[in-house]
Amino acid sequence: MANKWVVRPEGVIMVSLVLLTFSCTRRVQGLPFPAPDFKNCNNSEGCCPPPYNGALIQDFYVFDPTLPMRIRQPAHLLDDAYIAKYQRAYQLLRELPDSDGRSWKNQGKLHCAYCNAAFYFPIDKSRLEIHYGWLFFAWHRFFLYFHERILAKLLDDDTFALPFWNWDNQSTDPPLANVLPYAFANKKYQNKSSSLYDVNRNVCTKRPNIIDLQSTLECVNQTATLKASLREANNRIMYNQMVTGAPIRRLFFGESYELGGVAGLGAGTMEAIPHGTVHFWTGNPKATVEFADMGIFRYSAYDPTFFAHHGNVDRLWEVWKALPGGNRKDITDSDYLNTEFLFYDENGNLVKVKISQALNHISTLRYKYANVPNLWIHSGSDAAYKSCFPASTTEINKMILNTHALNTSNLNTFANSTITFSVQRPAKKQLHGEEVLVIGGVNVTGSEFKFLIQAFLYFPTANVNTSITCPQFFGVLSNPALTFGDTVPDSKKEWRLALTSKLQSLSMDQFSHVVVTLVEATGSFPQYLQLKLTAKIVYFEY
Ligand SMILES: *[C@@H]1O[C@H](CO)[C@@H](O)[C@H](O)[C@H]1NC(C)=O
Ligand SMILES: *[C@@H]1O[C@H](CO)[C@@H](O)[C@H](O)[C@H]1NC(C)=O
Ligand SMILES: *[C@@H]1O[C@H](CO)[C@@H](O)[C@H](O)[C@H]1NC(C)=O
Ligand SMILES: *[C@@H]1O[C@H](CO)[C@@H](O)[C@H](O)[C@H]1NC(C)=O
Ligand SMILES: *[C@@H]1O[C@H](CO)[C@@H](O)[C@H](O)[C@H]1NC(C)=O
Ligand SMILES: *[C@@H]1O[C@H](CO)[C@@H](O)[C@H](O)[C@H]1NC(C)=O
Ligand SMILES: *[C@@H]1O[C@H](CO)[C@@H](O)[C@H](O)[C@H]1NC(C)=O
Ligand SMILES: *[C@@H]1O[C@H](CO)[C@@H](O)[C@H](O)[C@H]1NC(C)=O
Repeated sequence: MANKWVVRPEGVIMVSLVLLTFSCTRRVQGLPFPAPDFKNCNNSEGCCPPPYNGALIQDFYVFDPTLPMRIRQPAHLLDDAYIAKYQRAYQLLRELPDSDGRSWKNQGKLHCAYCNAAFYFPIDKSRLEIHYGWLFFAWHRFFLYFHERILAKLLDDDTFALPFWNWDNQSTDPPLANVLPYAFANKKYQNKSSSLYDVNRNVCTKRPNIIDLQSTLECVNQTATLKASLREANNRIMYNQMVTGAPIRRLFFGESYELGGVAGLGAGTMEAIPHGTVHFWTGNPKATVEFADMGIFRYSAYDPTFFAHHGNVDRLWEVWKALPGGNRKDITDSDYLNTEFLFYDENGNLVKVKISQALNHISTLRYKYANVPNLWIHSGSDAAYKSCFPASTTEINKMILNTHALNTSNLNTFANSTITFSVQRPAKKQLHGEEVLVIGGVNVTGSEFKFLIQAFLYFPTANVNTSITCPQFFGVLSNPALTFGDTVPDSKKEWRLALTSKLQSLSMDQFSHVVVTLVEATGSFPQYLQLKLTAKIVYFEY
């Protein structure tokens, strides 16, 4: 999701950079984050949740194994009775006083605080940021769990389950899944008296528009032709971010992040796109605070669509683990498993949990997702599309000879919105690792967001008109995908693209170099993008 660091005063940006730089030099490495003390919260946007109020912090929270199994349903298939219950739950939540840690406002603040590096740790001055790295999936799973339990308690109904927004289903059969679900958006429910209504939504979300998983904030009225190509592109994005682009956990979950480390060294494929782009598509770029509510950390949890959106993200975590391939497993690093968070439980008590408790959602957390097939596994695959640039082995070898490596002393400009370069592959193959192309030197100056860079392999003529359905497409970068803002210096921002599985899928694993073409897909190379690109290929362990 968009990190609107820019809405913060310049001073804050500078201060936290200094703190982080300082903490780097005396890194307490290899320590999991302890639960933040709510007293150690510093945020100029009013995000800090109410401090510890004397109620016992349960250390550790014991999840109730006798709760009924809750089944989270796709939001587009809810019936009127369920929507009425769902609406009542949010009505009750909105009525809680703010002295109650569970209140509507406090739920929104909790997300904001964990997102804007508000919590600090006196031991190290590290600031906790749950985005752009491996904490993303687990933190949000807990947040949804407790949010769902709070709603269930208010309804006095332990079977209550949050629905999920099934935006990855591109079916053209009604009711559509890849639009803002009716619960939030039809005439009956989208009015100011509905608790599921949110005033700050993008006009893009109005029907008959369908979702754009590569949203760059612009929205146009969608013709039938545009919708058809959006559906294909959405399937391709899902396939790339879940399958070829994320064959190993480091690429799916994102970079590691421990106490003493720099926050946000790298989002996983799903966190960046589509998770971030759905936030952007939903938030209103013209709101008083740009992109509120869904498009900005500070406000996103104030729109009930947040929880339906994250339900799908959470579901896709399980889907990813079940994909064939063998290296799609949860992280087992003890710093990850022992990282702790605090949440308000359904009784309003502050409780402590650790990531290891999030990993079994069925036996520990007692919820499941309705079993929906994932259409993109086939319709978005490389095999579903014809090669866009068929070339013989001789032609590829010639292409490699004719393509320069990046000249790292120059600022890169994209002639006709593209740049092509070659990168040498490691001479020695490693059997127990994934070859990963690491591109550095992406510098976004200022607060702009409208760029979208698509990457193609062995396809030097790819241009702004090239469809990502081409099997040669292998990655996409946009602002939500970048590690940016005040937590990470530009020199550390990297874009990581999986190669082993992609080269196998293209049957092009035999060459000494890859030839990479980057296309700035919005068509106009933006001034605020300053690229001094570097590229290398390294092995990431499984
Ligand atoms: C809190 O943040 C402000 C800037 O917003 C800074 O001046 C102050 O030193 C910070 N305090 C702590 C304890 O980090
Ligand atoms: C507005 O929403 C409320 C709550 O769902 C509903 O009862 C009412 O019928 C809606 N009003 C209109 C004019 O659609
Ligand atoms: C989209 O359609 C709406 C309703 O027909 C119209 O008011 C609006 O101006 C159109 N927007 C664009 C960008 O064409
Ligand atoms: C996708 O949504 C359509 C339309 O509601 C539905 O018929 C279909 O079962 C859904 N498909 C999957 C795979 O969930
Ligand atoms: C890289 O670009 C610089 C400046 O244009 C030039 O002087 C240098 O020769 C180039 N290096 C290579 C290896 O092409
Ligand atoms: C840009 O594209 C146009 C049209 O395809 C072509 O004529 C022109 O040579 C291209 N320019 C560069 C610098 O590649
Ligand atoms: C892309 O398509 C548009 C519209 O057909 C055309 O005007 C433009 O020249 C094309 N660009 C390139 C680089 O081929
Ligand atoms: C990024 O661009 C800005 C603006 O031109 C520049 O001041 C800064 O030094 C650049 N940072 C890096 C790491 O290139």
